[in-house]
Amino acid sequence: MPIRVYSLHHAKKKASHSSSCSTSLLFISLLCLASLFLVYSLFKSSVSPHNHQNLQFKRSDSSGTPILVEPCDYSDGMWIYDPSVRSAPYDHTCKEIFKGWNCIASNKSNGLDIIKWRWKPKGCDLPRFDPIRFLERFRNTNVGFVGDSLNRNMFVSLFCTLKRASSEVKKWRPAGADRGFTFLQYNFTIAYHRTNLLARYGRWSADANGGTLESLGYKEGFRVDVDIPDGTWAEAPSFHDILIFNTGHWWWAPSKFDPVKSPMLFFENGLPLIPPIPPHVGLDLVLKHMISFVERRMRAGGIKFFRTQSPRHFEGGDWDQGGFCQHQQPLLPEQVEELFSLKNNGTNVETRLVNQHLYKALKGSDFHILEITRMSEFRADAHPSTAGGKKHDDCMHWCLPGTTDTWNDLFITHLNNIKFQN
Ligand SMILES: *[C@@H]1O[C@H](CO)[C@@H](O)[C@H](O)[C@H]1NC(C)=O
Ligand SMILES: *[C@@H]1O[C@H](CO)[C@@H](O)[C@H](O)[C@H]1NC(C)=O
Ligand SMILES: *[C@@H]1O[C@H](CO)[C@@H](O)[C@H](O)[C@H]1NC(C)=O
Repeated sequence: MPIRVYSLHHAKKKASHSSSCSTSLLFISLLCLASLFLVYSLFKSSVSPHNHQNLQFKRSDSSGTPILVEPCDYSDGMWIYDPSVRSAPYDHTCKEIFKGWNCIASNKSNGLDIIKWRWKPKGCDLPRFDPIRFLERFRNTNVGFVGDSLNRNMFVSLFCTLKRASSEVKKWRPAGADRGFTFLQYNFTIAYHRTNLLARYGRWSADANGGTLESLGYKEGFRVDVDIPDGTWAEAPSFHDILIFNTGHWWWAPSKFDPVKSPMLFFENGLPLIPPIPPHVGLDLVLKHMISFVERRMRAGGIKFFRTQSPRHFEGGDWDQGGFCQHQQPLLPEQVEELFSLKNNGTNVETRLVNQHLYKALKGSDFHILEITRMSEFRADAHPSTAGGKKHDDCMHWCLPGTTDTWNDLFITHLNNIKFQN
């Protein structure tokens, strides 16, 4: 995170100062010791990918030296029930809400209760963002959501919130987007670029003339080009000022990419990778190439986010095995561990596994990480469940209004910190 990078930079500066301390009086060397300790703890928190601290700085003295105001880890907190919340930032009449996610219109029993839970990070607050203030601050800006339907869910939440504040919009499809809107009064555009794997992929079947994969016995599958971005978003880095990426669900989806009947077959430089690699290794390669592609192509001054994995909450089986999610309230911390702990290897184990791949790939890049996994792991109550109107329960997408509204509060808090506090 840039805020982390900033703190690292700050720490280095302090470290060089501290060498001159050694000749000073005892009192000063005590100060040195204290500052070394501060440097150490800053350094520690800035390099550990598992510590999601966002150190907040405020430029407060005349020399412009940042002062540590308050460390806030937005991912560490709890959901508090607040019955005084009377309205969501938008309602079920927003037309962008996909029918299966509209839990109020489909009469989900707790549909109106979902928004009465407020995320309270330990040690700070995560306020609801003010849409008018946001539009004013981000005039003439393009924001792109790039990813699967869970990023679309987040995009819809942002669109509906803004639409209620500023209703004059033009609907169009910028830069290969699946859907997009410009808020005309502010020349502010948001778009959703649909891509499941980030990389380009398509059906593959054996060539009658043979080939390396054919000689290994492959007949059908999906060709995934690890170094080629999906055409739906290849133009997004040069069009948008702010991008927010995700991928994950499709990498752990054997019902789509059956390891035997229709495996993922990875290609690099146009040639199959031999020996064939499993999906989790393919994911690492795709992330490496796509992160580097975005870093090369992004508009000058552009801001890039990678969103962490959105948790699913299937219990009693996977989505196609009768899995359900009938909670009326967020889970307790013990229930969260039961469901998501890697050592339990449960139905939704991919949640934290995907994040391990993301953190590894993003280390050293200048992407900001939007950590929404932890807060969302509690929200087993906030999926459409049987109200999704499908043959199976939907314990993957989120009811709208709902959890992704809070993701957007976090997203915009980070954006404001990046643009207006440094
Ligand atoms: C939800 O309830 C309303 C009012 O009772 C009813 O008109 C509507 O058809 C219901 N919708 C669904 C999807 O069941
Ligand atoms: C609207 O915003 C876009 C994207 O930043 C910019 O290229 C364009 O010049 C703006 N148009 C006007 C009329 O300001
Ligand atoms: C986790 O569970 C799946 C199926 O439920 C199984 O195929 C896999 O081998 C398990 N992995 C580990 C590490 O135990």
